[in-house]
Amino acid sequence: MNLNVVILAAGKGTRMKSVLPKVLQPLAKRPLLTHVLETVFIMNTTRVVVVYGHGGEQVQTCIEKTYPDSAIAWAEQSQQLGTGHAVLQALPQLEDNARVLVLYGDVPLTDVSTLERLVSSVPVDTLGLLTIHLEKPAGYGRILRDAAGRVMQIVEEKDATVEQKQVTEVNTGIMIATAKKLREWLPSLSSNNAQGEYYLTDIVKLANDDGTGAEAVVVTDPIEVEGVNDKRQLARLERLFQYRNAEHLMAMGATLADPARLDVRGSVTVGSDCYIDVNAVFEGHVVLGNHVEIGPNCVIINSVIGNNSVIKANSMLENARLADHCEVGPFARLRPGTELASGAKIGNFVETKNARLGSHSKANHLTYLGDCEIGRDVNVGAGTITCNYDGANKHKTIIGDGAFIGSNSSLVAPIDIGEGATIGAGSTVTRKAEPNTLTVTRAKQTTIEGWQRPAKKKH
Ligand code: UD1
Ligand code: MG
Repeated sequence: MNLNVVILAAGKGTRMKSVLPKVLQPLAKRPLLTHVLETVFIMNTTRVVVVYGHGGEQVQTCIEKTYPDSAIAWAEQSQQLGTGHAVLQALPQLEDNARVLVLYGDVPLTDVSTLERLVSSVPVDTLGLLTIHLEKPAGYGRILRDAAGRVMQIVEEKDATVEQKQVTEVNTGIMIATAKKLREWLPSLSSNNAQGEYYLTDIVKLANDDGTGAEAVVVTDPIEVEGVNDKRQLARLERLFQYRNAEHLMAMGATLADPARLDVRGSVTVGSDCYIDVNAVFEGHVVLGNHVEIGPNCVIINSVIGNNSVIKANSMLENARLADHCEVGPFARLRPGTELASGAKIGNFVETKNARLGSHSKANHLTYLGDCEIGRDVNVGAGTITCNYDGANKHKTIIGDGAFIGSNSSLVAPIDIGEGATIGAGSTVTRKAEPNTLTVTRAKQTTIEGWQRPAKKKH
């Protein structure tokens, strides 16, 4: 049977105190709802329906921009009349011959394996629910079982008797049922309860009444089913999520100076024996080779770092590719299009962009290298600037193998510095520097004999 998914995302999220709808609040710098969707995308589904309400347009725009190729269907719930009413809005979009998995847009960290367990262990025609035992079950719907342990009913906290409140098995909200049964059950729900809402949870009793039956799958890790209602919970889940990322990296063999001071906002893969110091932030897709060292306070975005390379403290790399044995930082900024061949070095206060450095070339201090191709064994002196921008267009700087650029030189692009050329310190170079020659453009030094320093006038 096909699998359809309904994600409930109509909640206002009043307690977030934000203009951003709750499901767009960020966890690991991306919307909560994208975490749920990406779990769903791993599963074998034929339709995904998101029920939206408050800030619906914003939610739709954001998700469609993030996943332009996905065929997400949208169902509007203009008034929040309860979870049962929310799923009811999605019914017209569901396939007839499908099972429907109901998820919450504000429960971001459910494992795909847990959902797959729910799908596979509950018989196709039976109503399945995901439950958990909590020491403090307050606020949740309680699972009521009969003497034989069969799930009979869910009672919401606000409708529960004192005795029912003692039950510690609670409803996570995640359920699975056939579209056919949902079409029978949902229109018959009543809102005659403490909250005046149409409760999705009431379908458990309906399933038992009509012989469909209900079965629970129990999860043990509360993080998997934890919802987010306010900024404190959001921060808590963020830390738990990041700790998981840290554990994942350690499981791959990375050494972390402090697993509590690491943020992965995307994916990181590591080779063997990588060392990551405190406060590393990884975004997008980052690949570290073997024996890579990341110093404290580094931000690394969509980059590949080769074996035995070292990124020293306070460096930022974005869309950079480093071969083996490279050294970067401290305080370096590698902007998109930076490519370092093996053994290349970028030192402190150096900025690069669209810059290729050949093997063992160095720019160790206070330099801007933009739109340039630099050969191997080139030494770029302190304070060198590639003047790549004329105010309208960008131009390229080409530096041949073995060239030496003296300190405080300006290379006005487009410009070609030949192989083995030397540029004298303080030169502003505007024409080609021939290979193996010395080019100096600085004014000649003169000495004025007998010159007197002005003295302060006496009044
Ligand atoms: C719900 C369950 C409760 C369970 C708990 C788990 C019901 C009646 N109760 O309670 O058994 O223990 O979740 O967290 O289902 N939503 C809509 N439209 C609505 C109402 C809700 O889209 O009209 C969405 C919310 O945005 C949220 C989710 O459904 O993502 C759950 O709604 P919420 O009001 O938090 O349900 P609870 O009262 O916590
Ligand atoms: Mg709630």
